[in-house]
Amino acid sequence: MAYLIVNGPNLNALGRRDPTQYGTLTLAQIQDRIQGRAAEWGVEVAFFQSNHEGALIDYLQQRGPAAEGIVINPGAFTHYSIALRDALTDLQTPIVEVHLSNIHAREEFRRKSVTAEAARGIISGLGWHGYVLALEHLVLLNKKGLT
Ligand code: DQA
Repeated sequence: MAYLIVNGPNLNALGRRDPTQYGTLTLAQIQDRIQGRAAEWGVEVAFFQSNHEGALIDYLQQRGPAAEGIVINPGAFTHYSIALRDALTDLQTPIVEVHLSNIHAREEFRRKSVTAEAARGIISGLGWHGYVLALEHLVLLNKKGLT
């Protein structure tokens, strides 16, 4: 049983993408920080990134049902992938959607998330820290049954 940390397209390129939106850390560095917190909290995390919609859906179908929680940054799929939204909606597992940038402070097309309705909540604009906060929420939810 693990918490899944799932990243969509172009997030493998963090560190080279616009630092004013996405910060300077690479995905590997962000994952190290998440791993550090997970170890402190005594929970297991599994990381997955893909640039491909189908690969993300396959992973969620395979690993999602037995996961303790899912933190997902769907990247640009956020704004238009009904298929990814359906895959998330089909899961009973608690989900938090994370965006490094504040999608509500950017172009109009980024302000709509079609995937967010499958999530308990969204964290947007807090950079890499958003992933840690999302994981903390899911861990507390499972341990203490937050209502
Ligand atoms: C993003 C925001 C999306 O609009 C964009 O396409 C991304 C990253 C974020 O983390 O801020 O690739 O999900």
